[in-house]
Amino acid sequence: MMQETITVGLGERSYPISIGSGVLGNVSEFLLQKSIGNKYCVISDSNVGSLYGEKLIDAMQDAGISCEMITFPAGEENKNTSTVTTLASAMAERGFDRSDAIIALGGGVVGDISGFLASIFMRGIPFIQIPTSLLAQVDSSVGGKTGVDIPQGKNLVGTFYQPQAVFIDLDVLSTLPMSEYRGGLAEVIKYGVIIDKVFFSFLLENRAQILALDSDILLPMIRRCCEIKADVVEKDEREGGLRRILNFGHTIGHAVEAASGYSLIHGYGVSIGMQAVARMAVLSGHSTQSEMSEVEEILKAYELPLDIPNEFDIAQLKKYLLADKKTVGGRVFFVIPEQIGKVIITDKVKPEHIDAVLNNG
Ligand code: GLY
Repeated sequence: MMQETITVGLGERSYPISIGSGVLGNVSEFLLQKSIGNKYCVISDSNVGSLYGEKLIDAMQDAGISCEMITFPAGEENKNTSTVTTLASAMAERGFDRSDAIIALGGGVVGDISGFLASIFMRGIPFIQIPTSLLAQVDSSVGGKTGVDIPQGKNLVGTFYQPQAVFIDLDVLSTLPMSEYRGGLAEVIKYGVIIDKVFFSFLLENRAQILALDSDILLPMIRRCCEIKADVVEKDEREGGLRRILNFGHTIGHAVEAASGYSLIHGYGVSIGMQAVARMAVLSGHSTQSEMSEVEEILKAYELPLDIPNEFDIAQLKKYLLADKKTVGGRVFFVIPEQIGKVIITDKVKPEHIDAVLNNG
C-alpha cells in the first residue's frame, strides 16, 4: 500500500499531510500517539457521514478513543453561520469542551465549516482534516482557510486556522460523483498553470489514467498539488502576497458561481474563470494566443466548461466581481498567466478587456 507524508512547515504549527490508499485506517493510531483532544467530534454531512463516518467512528471506538459524529445536510447552501451555530449548540449539548477536538470528514463545505467552528468554539480547539472530495484534497483542506458564505458572497466570513493533520485517502474518491471529480481537476490544472509547467505536461500526458482514477497516478498527482500548496502557504500563510496566485481563475469563477445561484459547482466556475483569464491575458498583451491555447486544450481534454453561460447578466457578474473579497477599494485583481507555469497579479486590466471576456469574447 503506497502512502506518503509531506509536511506543511509553519514552525510550531507545522502539520503532516498523509496521502495514499487506505490512510483513513491510520487516523486512530495517529490520535493515540498525538492525543490532540480528550474527545473527538467528527463533523460530516448527510452524504459522507453515512459513507465513511460510521466506519471511522467504529474504528476509533475500537481503538478506545472517545468520539461522536454530528452531521448537517450536504450542500453549499448550508455553508452558513446558521449551520455553524447549530453545530456549536449540538457540541455544547453533548458536553464537548475546550479540551476536545474536531475531525472534519467531508468535502470543501465540511472542511471550511468545521475548521471555522474549531477556530471559534470555546475560543478555539484543535482540528483534523479528512477531505473526501478531490477539490478538498488538493486545495481547501491544506493551508488553514476556514469560513462560511453570507448572502453577499462566498467565504466572506472566516478565519485562518491551521489543522493538526490532514489525511488524504485516495480510496474515498471512488464514491465521488464524476462531476465533482472533474471539478477538483480544475484546481489540479490550476497548479500547473500558475507554477509548474512540468506538472501541466504530466496532466496532459496522463489524462486517461487520471480520469480512470488509477491510484498509481493519483498519488503523485495529489502529492504534487499538496507540495505546491504547502510551499505557497509556508511562504505567505495569510495571503499578503504570493498566496494570491492560488486564486487564479477564482475571481471570475466565484462571480459565475454566484450568478448561477450556486447551481454551478465550484470547480466548473474555476474552469470558466481560468479560461476567461487566459483570454484576458492575450487581449491585454500579457501572453500570446499560442501559449494560452494550451489552457483551453487541457480544460477541453478534461471536459471542463470553458464559457460563461450566455444567459448570465454581465452587470450582475460585475457586481459579484466587486463584492469578491480579493477586491480592495473597488480594485479588482486578476491573476494573469504570462506563460504556462508563470503568472502575475494585476489590477490594471482595462475595463473593455474585462467586458470582452465576460461576453466570452
Ligand atoms: N484556495 C486558495 C487558498 O487556499 O489560498
